[in-house]
This record gives sequence, structure tokens and C-alpha cells, in this order.
Amino acid sequence: MPITFSEIHVCLHHHKTIDKMERWVSPMGTLFFIAALIAVSCSSSGAADSKTSFEDNFSIMWSENHFKTSEDGQIWYLSLDNDTGCGFQTKQRYRFGWFSMKLKLVGGDSAGVVTAYYMCTENGAGPERDELDFEFLGNRTGQPYLIQTNVYKNGTGNREMRHSLWFDPTEDFHSYSILWNDHQIVFFVDRVPIRVFKNNGEANNFFPNEKPMYLFSSIWNADDWATRGGLEKTDWKKAPFVSSYKEFSVEGCQWEDPYPACVSTTTKNWWDQYDAWHLSEAQKMDYAWVQRNLVIYDYCKDNERFPTLPNECSLSPWA
Ligand SMILES: *[C@@H]1O[C@H](CO)[C@@H](O)[C@H](O)[C@H]1NC(C)=O
Repeated sequence: MPITFSEIHVCLHHHKTIDKMERWVSPMGTLFFIAALIAVSCSSSGAADSKTSFEDNFSIMWSENHFKTSEDGQIWYLSLDNDTGCGFQTKQRYRFGWFSMKLKLVGGDSAGVVTAYYMCTENGAGPERDELDFEFLGNRTGQPYLIQTNVYKNGTGNREMRHSLWFDPTEDFHSYSILWNDHQIVFFVDRVPIRVFKNNGEANNFFPNEKPMYLFSSIWNADDWATRGGLEKTDWKKAPFVSSYKEFSVEGCQWEDPYPACVSTTTKNWWDQYDAWHLSEAQKMDYAWVQRNLVIYDYCKDNERFPTLPNECSLSPWA
């Protein structure tokens, strides 16, 4: 069953109280404690009992033979070897909503390997595409993974952020989610907002809000840039490299030509409503903690690359 916004609210309400008690003691511990608490207080909604099959929502983009599912069809595996990687995409497109998936990344020596989980307006790297990316950059055994996020509008990206994580993403499944409406795009890791990308309410060249997007995931070799800037190469003796997926959930406006009723901002859907236009107080505290502790790179702070910072960098994530 999909998790509704009111349930998230309930969960965050608990979270907030605890936040005040423990935050300054140990942010890590607090976060784990909160995670446990959310798991308990939201267990009815957290347990995804929607037993949809892969084919209901997705199709394979390339190399069918590098895709596998568990016996019950609920876990999917993408593998990369010397030959090729693999990718899948949703059959439907969406404009605005909440998009979530649990991933467990390639363990051991995964240097050079990138697992991407993203939304894009088209099935290819077209010059006019809009795109929202999570990219997981592999590493040598024992060295930390990084998450890179990016936002494209009309074919232009260059809006990278990089974060380290507060857990080992290869050990277990964690949820990676995107909230997208006309006011903000928020990247979540296990319900912690790690990145907030705001709209300014005007016509602009940075906030993708016009075109519906598919959701994709893929695994590929990126050892020319991914790990320590390309210094660490993929060790093919360790292949195949496998990423695992489960519990895809979407609550969004499914696109229908020419225009589905749900995109006219009726504020009928929780992801379009006022509460979803900005972070809640509890989310702001988590976000502040992430900002202080986990940001490795932020293009909005890179004055060497951008002597004049892009316009969107002046928008406050706290608003
Ligand atoms: C990989 O590990 C090295 C050494 O700890 C670290 O500097 C680097 O940021 C890590 N991640 C990537 C993607 O290079």
C-alpha cells in the first residue's frame, strides 16, 4: 500500500519530539533511533504489500539477459559485466508526484561502477531532455560510496551535488525517493531530505516542470570519471556487478495525452498541496544535519566553476 502524506505527517510528528531531545547528543544515533521509530510507528504503511510484478510497471531497456528477478518476482537484479550493463524504465510517464524505490548497491570492489536511478523525459540523452538523477558511485572495497544528484532542464545539467551516506548502501536495502511538484524537487534517502531544489514561480531555465518523465534505473561502467575522478578503474575480475531493487512505489499524476486532469494544479493530491511545497519543521532539522555533515560537493558553492553562480542558487531551501 502506498504511503500517504498524512501518514508521513504522523511519523514526523514523533520524530520532531525526539529530534529535540537527542539531536545534539549524537546525530547518527538519533537518526538510527528515528529510523527505528518511524519503522514502528509507520509499520502499517511501510510494509509494502503491493505485490505488483516487474512487467506491470517496467520494461527492460537493453540486454534482457543481464536482468533477473527473485523467485517470487519481488526483487530485481541488474548486472554489469565486461560486455554490457543493463537498464529498465517505467512504461508510464508522470508529471509531479512521489517516486520511491528500495535499492541495494553492488558490494565489495565496485570502483568505476555507477548505478543510476533517475527520472527523464525521454529514453535517451536528447538535447532537450529534463532529468532528475540519483547516481551511486561505486568504490574500492571498504571505501565509501558517494551519491551524486543532478537536475537537467532542456538538456542542461551541471547542477551536481555529492553526498556521503550515514550507512553502507551495499549492506541492505534503503529507500531513495523523489518528491516533485511545481514548487520544489526534493531528493530523499530513507525519508531524510538530502537535497532541495526550489522553483521561483516564474518562467525560468532551471526548474523542470513542464514535461512528464519516465523513471529509469541502470548500471554501467563509468571508470573514466566515477571513482576518485577516474583514477580507480573497474576491476573486471570482480564482475558481474549486481544492484538489487524492490518496492517501487509511485503516487503521482500519470500522463495521458494530451493532458491528464491531475496535472492542472488542483491541489487535490498530497504531493501538490501546500504541505508538500516546502520541508516540514522536522525535515528541516534533518536537512540541516545533512548539510552540516554529508555534503561533499555543491555546485552552488563552486565559484571557480561558476564565477557567477546560477540563478537557482539564490533560492532558499528553507522557504
Ligand atoms: C572513494 O574512496 C575514496 C577514498 O576514501 C574517496 O576519496 C572518494 O571520495 C570515494 N568515492 C568516489 C566516488 O570517488
